[in-house]
Amino acid sequence: MLKRLQQKWNVSSLQLLLILCTFAIGGSLTGYTGRKILNLFDLNQDWLWVLIYVVLITMLWPLSVILVSIPMGQFRFFNRYIHKLGSRIGIAKKPEKLSKTGQKPIKLAIFASGKGSNAQKIIYHFRWNPAIKVVLVVSNKSDAGVLDIAANAGIPSLIIEKDRFFKNDGFLPYLAQNEVDFVILAGFLWKIPEKLISAYPGKILNIHPALLPKFGGKGMYGHHVHEAVLAAGETESGITIHLVDEQYDHGKTIAQFKCPVLAGDTADSLAERIHGLEHAHFPEEIEKFVAGGR
Ligand code: GRF
Repeated sequence: MLKRLQQKWNVSSLQLLLILCTFAIGGSLTGYTGRKILNLFDLNQDWLWVLIYVVLITMLWPLSVILVSIPMGQFRFFNRYIHKLGSRIGIAKKPEKLSKTGQKPIKLAIFASGKGSNAQKIIYHFRWNPAIKVVLVVSNKSDAGVLDIAANAGIPSLIIEKDRFFKNDGFLPYLAQNEVDFVILAGFLWKIPEKLISAYPGKILNIHPALLPKFGGKGMYGHHVHEAVLAAGETESGITIHLVDEQYDHGKTIAQFKCPVLAGDTADSLAERIHGLEHAHFPEEIEKFVAGGR
């Protein structure tokens, strides 16, 4: 259950602990203060007392948790949380949609076909960023792990099917409706149709688990890439973050990061090292790219 909460709120284990402590301390403080206030008045502990107590608690609770969240370092989380609750019951405005500069946030759609560890890192990276938001997760597989990640983070997802993607409108109206500015491919296995590329010129980024232009092209994905790197006797591999054009793994390189290939490496051990590089760099490179790219 704690794991689910952690995923739902998109927080680290330490942050989850601090949040739970804030709830507990804030809750006790609310009860204590509520009673103290009621004791000031000479009321019988009957239904009126209970009614006033409930109203008082409802008003005090947000204040208490916000107060406690400050020393706990969780103010931002609770500020949003309380705003969300408030907007759900119609007593607060929806959380601010504009960034600090008053501009509309830059909106990202993540396309992924697999378990989505990169998508998870990207979502986590931008979770409190008012200027850049992940607004949509798109997958071509209905059982892809990335869909659970999106659901846990409260991000809408879309499962696409081949015909419409390649032969019809390419889901472009759907992307437009969600005001998507940039498309991020994080392990998306279908080729991107021309229609999408021309709708998002220079705005589709991909991550490839090798140092392009080596070990790219059709069929070069997942373990196939790492097996090819090992078979070629390479002493280093890495990741390439690049723009997407009409050819597989071909567009302009935005950044590359390297790691060694060690003696005794298997495709699995190399994949793990590469994933580490991806998780460490992809979200930041996306941030740099999209922030400078509009
Ligand atoms: C990553 O290795 C990425 O480079 C490649 O697909 C993999 C996706 O992994 N394009 P995950 O689903 O994000 O874990």
